[in-house]
Amino acid sequence: MAHSHRFWNWIARRYARTPIRDETSYREKIRRTQSVLRPDWNVLEFGCGTGSTALEHAPHVANIHGIDSAPRMIDICREKLETGEVPNARFDVDAIDTLAAEDGSYDAVLGMSILHLVDDRDATIGKVHRLLKPGGVFVSSTMCLEGQARLMTNVLLPLGNLFGLLPRIHLFSRSDLIDAFTSAGFEIEDNWQPDDAPMKAVFVIARKPA
Ligand SMILES: C[S@@+](CC[C@H](N)C(=O)[O-])C[C@H]1O[C@@H](n2cnc3c(N)ncnc32)[C@H](O)[C@@H]1O
Repeated sequence: MAHSHRFWNWIARRYARTPIRDETSYREKIRRTQSVLRPDWNVLEFGCGTGSTALEHAPHVANIHGIDSAPRMIDICREKLETGEVPNARFDVDAIDTLAAEDGSYDAVLGMSILHLVDDRDATIGKVHRLLKPGGVFVSSTMCLEGQARLMTNVLLPLGNLFGLLPRIHLFSRSDLIDAFTSAGFEIEDNWQPDDAPMKAVFVIARKPA
C-alpha cells in the first residue's frame, strides 16, 4: 500500500497532464453513470485520482466526496476546487480499506480504474456494499483479462512490482468480476465493455437491492 502510493504520488502531475486515451468511451461512462445518479444523492469516489470524474458528476448530485491514498493526487484535486465553483465536492487522502464511514452513508460509490489495484478486491466490494444505502449503486470501471493473456500478465506483472516500478496489479476475468459483485449481494444493471474490445475496461453498474 505505502509502496503503491509512492508510485501514484510520483506519477500524479504527469497523470493530470495526460489526455484521456479513449474519450468516446469515457464520455459514454459519464453518461451511463449520470443516468442513475440523483440530485439529492451523497456520493463517494474512491481512488479518485486527479478528481476529474468527481468534478464531472458534482453538478448532478448533492455532495461528492473523493478519496485517494496518494496525497499528490489529492493536492491536484484541491487545486481544482480553488476557484470555488464546485462547493459540493471535497477531497481527502484516504484508502477505501481505512475509510471510517458509517454503513449506509452513501447513495452511490464510484470506483474507476481501481478494483484491479486494491489488495483485496472482494473485501473492497463487500465494504462498498456496506457503505451503500439500500437501493444505492456501485459504479466501476475495471481492466479485466481473459485466459492466456491473463495468465501471462499475472506472471509478468509481479516482476515490475519486484523492482519497485509498478503498483501491484491483480488481473481477473470479466466473469470473475461479475461473480464477485453478485456474491457480495449486488444486482447487475449495466455490464458494458466498449466495442467488446478485450483491452478496454469493463464498466459495471451494480445495485444494492432496496
Ligand atoms: C489508475 S488510477 C485511477 C484514477 C481515477 N479513478 C481515474 O479513473 O483516472 C488509481 C488511483 O487509485 C489510487 N489508489 C490505489 N489504491 C487505493 C486504495 N486502496 N484506496 C484509495 N485509492 C487508491 C491511486 O493513488 C490512484 O490515484
